[in-house]
Amino acid sequence: MQPYCLIRPAVTDDAKDIASIWYEDAARAFGEAPPTRDAAEAFYLKRLKTIEPPFGIWLAVEGSSPVGWQALQPVRNNPIHGERWAESSTYVSKCAQNRGVGRMLIRFANQHAARNGIELVVGLILRTNIASRRMVESEGWLVVGTLPRLSGQDEYEYWVYTPGRDVTRT
Ligand SMILES: CC(C)(COP(=O)(O)OP(=O)(O)OC[C@H]1O[C@@H](n2cnc3c(N)ncnc32)[C@H](O)[C@@H]1OP(=O)(O)O)[C@@H](O)C(=O)NCCC(=O)NCCS
Repeated sequence: MQPYCLIRPAVTDDAKDIASIWYEDAARAFGEAPPTRDAAEAFYLKRLKTIEPPFGIWLAVEGSSPVGWQALQPVRNNPIHGERWAESSTYVSKCAQNRGVGRMLIRFANQHAARNGIELVVGLILRTNIASRRMVESEGWLVVGTLPRLSGQDEYEYWVYTPGRDVTRT
């Protein structure tokens, strides 16, 4: 089903909504208890104040209600890859899940990357997170490996999206 929502750039006033949506499902996304909602809000407020193009954080809104968000944040800290590699995060409010909002956001992120010189988008997804895996796989992402298990959580898969390039696992 096609969702009736718009995607707009997030501003600092959106930090509370972004943290609330994140908090609703952080345990599923990370397989462990999240910090407090206030800590999450402080984290995203800091990000919103400092993030610069080609990276960004966007909000999906239905009318004036936030229903999800998408981030593309820097993932490498050097002058070569710094502007060209991004880490993706997608979160949809529980009340809006399973009706196409997540797909709309990841498709938006793919297109934004392609149009803004981002060559590689990475995403870390727990193997148990079926919804997220299905969403990225059907939008052209490829799983390229797994991380070692750290604090006893489920296994993280490392997914990548390479705009305009048809990569296969080597
Ligand atoms: C992952 C997430 C963003 C998907 O958003 P969504 O709006 O519910 O997803 P969509 O409705 O666009 O559906 C995308 C695909 O996932 C599938 N899906 C959605 N929820 C599902 C569920 N609970 N179980 C299994 N599959 C599910 C859909 O069927 C669809 O696949 P299909 O087209 O092959 O049928 C959302 O579930 C979420 O916010 N999860 C918690 C946060 C998270 O894990 N984020 C990813 C880590 S960065």
